[in-house]
Amino acid sequence: MSAPHFVIRTYQAADAPRLAQLYFESARTIGARRYSPEQVAAWAPEPADPATVHARASDGRVTLVAEGADGTVLGYGDLEADGHIDHLYAHPAAAGTGVGSALLQALVEQARAWGATRLYVEASELARGLFERQGFTTSHRRDFEVRGVPIHNYAMERSLV
Ligand SMILES: CC(C)(COP(=O)(O)OP(=O)(O)OC[C@H]1O[C@@H](n2cnc3c(N)ncnc32)[C@H](O)[C@@H]1OP(=O)(O)O)[C@@H](O)C(=O)NCCC(=O)NCCS
Repeated sequence: MSAPHFVIRTYQAADAPRLAQLYFESARTIGARRYSPEQVAAWAPEPADPATVHARASDGRVTLVAEGADGTVLGYGDLEADGHIDHLYAHPAAAGTGVGSALLQALVEQARAWGATRLYVEASELARGLFERQGFTTSHRRDFEVRGVPIHNYAMERSLV
């Protein structure tokens, strides 16, 4: 197997604008593979505010970034102290190349290092298979509304004990 074309590192403040844009492009482009135009528009109406991205990354969670050899950000994911995985996003140009699974693997290792006993996530249709491949099971489908638009994802969890 060839070496990965990226490294996983921790978030730095200078990443905020790139993560804000990546979130938007990922939701709009990759999200559209499994959700309707109305749903992805409600999911990500506009690029995120970099200040909000930075505030979230500074609230005690760990945010990991996949960085390509040329310094581009290929994806990011985050883990909250209670074992909740909040965001996991790949850049559309990097999707399907192992970025998401490498980020998830690193988040699992971080959770183990913290002594967490359980991980949980609300996984999109795009992410469900990836989480299943890394030992998560679905507890139920979640149907809800975002900005008045019906959408769904899956409550998934993995025991670490
Ligand atoms: C979820 C996500 C991070 C996975 O990242 P990834 O690096 O593409 O992960 P993988 O390489 O394991 O591929 C995941 C799936 O995308 C499929 N895929 C392959 N090529 C792809 C491409 N060019 N573009 C998009 N998806 C592709 C894979 O076949 C795989 O499908 P499966 O899980 O049904 O088998 C990515 O799909 C993404 O950013 N989605 C939009 C945001 C999102 O839904 N986040 C999840 C919130 S919990």
